[in-house]
Amino acid sequence: MENENGKSKLPFVVAITGASGAIYGLRLLQFLLSSGQPVDLLLSKAAQRVMKEEHDLILEGDVESLLLSYLKLPKAVPLKLHPLNDYGASVASGSYRTRGMVVLPCSLGTLGALAAGLTENLIHRAAAVTLKERRKLMIVVREMPFGHIQLKNMLALSEAGAIVSCASPGFYHRPETVQDQVDFVVGRVLDQFDFDNQLFKRWKEDSRPIVQEKKVGQ
Ligand SMILES: Cc1cc2nc3c(=O)[nH]c(=O)nc-3n(C[C@H](O)[C@H](O)[C@H](O)COP(=O)(O)O)c2cc1C
Repeated sequence: MENENGKSKLPFVVAITGASGAIYGLRLLQFLLSSGQPVDLLLSKAAQRVMKEEHDLILEGDVESLLLSYLKLPKAVPLKLHPLNDYGASVASGSYRTRGMVVLPCSLGTLGALAAGLTENLIHRAAAVTLKERRKLMIVVREMPFGHIQLKNMLALSEAGAIVSCASPGFYHRPETVQDQVDFVVGRVLDQFDFDNQLFKRWKEDSRPIVQEKKVGQ
């Protein structure tokens, strides 16, 4: 199977952890699934708590259906949500090929676990697998300011091959709404994995292409 980039549609692993900015992960999910990209989704307990605080989104019961309904996506999209204690899940093994993995947003707790190589939940295990298989792992931390320990953890992960960044939207594309800023960050994440996107106006681009996509929570 080939996608619009001519690349095979390997699944992409998305982990959403309990840092503020759940909207980044939700928007990424919406973009990928609506373009037919298969997604293996990992959602920490703290992420669900943050979604309740930031979106009034209560994920109890059939979490997959609730998420899809919130994102206004049909049930048929290629989403697989994995319980975090399922070490027998596909993403726990390096022989399950993926296009890479992003942790968006990444909490300081998950950052520390990844830097230490812990595997206390499936997010940690999938990230460790992504690194050991030399696939692309991107972590997008949300916190300010950073302490010495977090800076060291970020350096350790970068040295191990991960792409480390902060959820830090630019302003040169003249954002007018929060959604514009969210789309900037999500667009730059997609860029790292070569997913074609027009979520934001790029530097020296004459005009922003018209994006006719649903926004999160609207
Ligand atoms: C509303 C809310 C916002 C939070 N924001 C952040 C944050 O921006 N960054 C962070 O590292 N932790 C934040 N936390 C704390 C994490 O959720 C907490 O450390 C948790 O243990 C992370 O677990 P996880 O890494 O398994 O998701 C927040 C918690 C809540 C309830």
